[in-house]
Amino acid sequence: MAHPAIEISGLTKRYGEGDAAVDALKGVDMIVQPGEVVGLIGPSGSGKSTLLKCLGAVIEPSSGRMALAGQTIYHNGWKVADLRALRRDRIGFVFQAPYLIPFLDVTDNVAVLPMLAGVSNGKARDRAREMLAALDVGHRAQAQVPQLSGGEQQRVAIARALVNQPPIILADEPTAPLDSERALTVIRILNEMAQRFGTAIIVVTHDEKIIPTFRRIYHIRDGRTYEEAGAARAA
Ligand SMILES: Nc1ncnc2c1ncn2[C@@H]1O[C@H](COP(=O)(O)OP(=O)(O)O)[C@@H](O)[C@H]1O
Ligand SMILES: [Mg+2]
Repeated sequence: MAHPAIEISGLTKRYGEGDAAVDALKGVDMIVQPGEVVGLIGPSGSGKSTLLKCLGAVIEPSSGRMALAGQTIYHNGWKVADLRALRRDRIGFVFQAPYLIPFLDVTDNVAVLPMLAGVSNGKARDRAREMLAALDVGHRAQAQVPQLSGGEQQRVAIARALVNQPPIILADEPTAPLDSERALTVIRILNEMAQRFGTAIIVVTHDEKIIPTFRRIYHIRDGRTYEEAGAARAA
């Protein structure tokens, strides 16, 4: 069998030192297969964003191990040398706020990622337009960001996360600003992308509307993860 897309074991993260230390992760275990979309659910302050930031190589864990597609990227203080390349080429982020660049048009907001990865401007824009079309915002390709609705902006942000076809997408409350219908559309798109490209996707959420859509859920409480019993949830 192929390697899991994501494998985390015994991961801990301590912020600060001494009396001010906060143990945000106390031993997290998680496995996500290629093509799988898993939910990560937990109360505010339970460590969800910390876990995504560790996995996304935005912050460094304190101990434990993380591997992507069978390749160790972190192990008890050892880490891969080129974290920037790891973030750029292997991981797509979707946040609650779309964080689009207001002075670039929609196409260039997406094209900037392949451009940063060394793709020519023309090819990068072609790829961007293709991905925008796949997300049903192709007709907005030349619009300016402030002209878009919230739902459209979020779909552009997803196009940007997907355009380099990273094997992993990390989404931190991606549907929080959206109404029910838009939220479910975003989840449908993520599921389609997972199927189409074999992307492994972790969705942090406490959005009741989308929780039933996950086949597999990890709960996180006080820095520890628990896989929900009963593997197959929704059909
Ligand atoms: N940069 C930081 N410095 C110190 N403590 C932090 C920092 N970021 C988060 N924390 C603490 O770590 C814990 C987990 O936070 P976080 O991962 O943001 O939780 P969640 O995303 O589940 O709300 C909380 O107690 C939070 O206050
Ligand atoms: Mg958070």
